[in-house]
Amino acid sequence: MKILFVCLGNICRSPMAEGIFRHLIVEKNLAKKFTHDSCGTGGWHSGEPPDLRAQACLKSKGIDISDLRARQFAKEDFENFDLILVADDQNFTDVLRLAESETQKNKVKKILSFHPEMKSGNVPDPYYGKADGFEHVYQQLSMACENILLTT
Ligand code: 4NP
Repeated sequence: MKILFVCLGNICRSPMAEGIFRHLIVEKNLAKKFTHDSCGTGGWHSGEPPDLRAQACLKSKGIDISDLRARQFAKEDFENFDLILVADDQNFTDVLRLAESETQKNKVKKILSFHPEMKSGNVPDPYYGKADGFEHVYQQLSMACENILLTT
């Protein structure tokens, strides 16, 4: 199963999701079953490491994402991944606009559709928000990532 995590800038939410997911599959000895990547619908931060606040938040949980680098979503991603998990409605619209078939469209889901309580909410963008926004995002994403492993 090949999973792609997508947000707007690929420096906060989607690298956090990828880092949490990577950590969980190693911990649960499932790393051989999955490949993963993350990207942004926008390309402004391409080549950059995750936002330092996102790195610090995950470091406090024992998760290192300093090796990740931002890149922009590309049409080939529809062929290279089985599941494309977006952070919010805007990402959903932007990715779906690039799809060229129903098969490609069906690969796109909101990541919180895997959260047992939220079902289809948006992961709030912590970039311009309050300092505790990253902790909130971490809580949502870790719950969703645990559930991905239970249901895929
Ligand atoms: P992300 O957050 O989509 O969670 O990576 C953002 C990071 C940067 C910007 C927007 C959102 N930006 O406009 O630069």
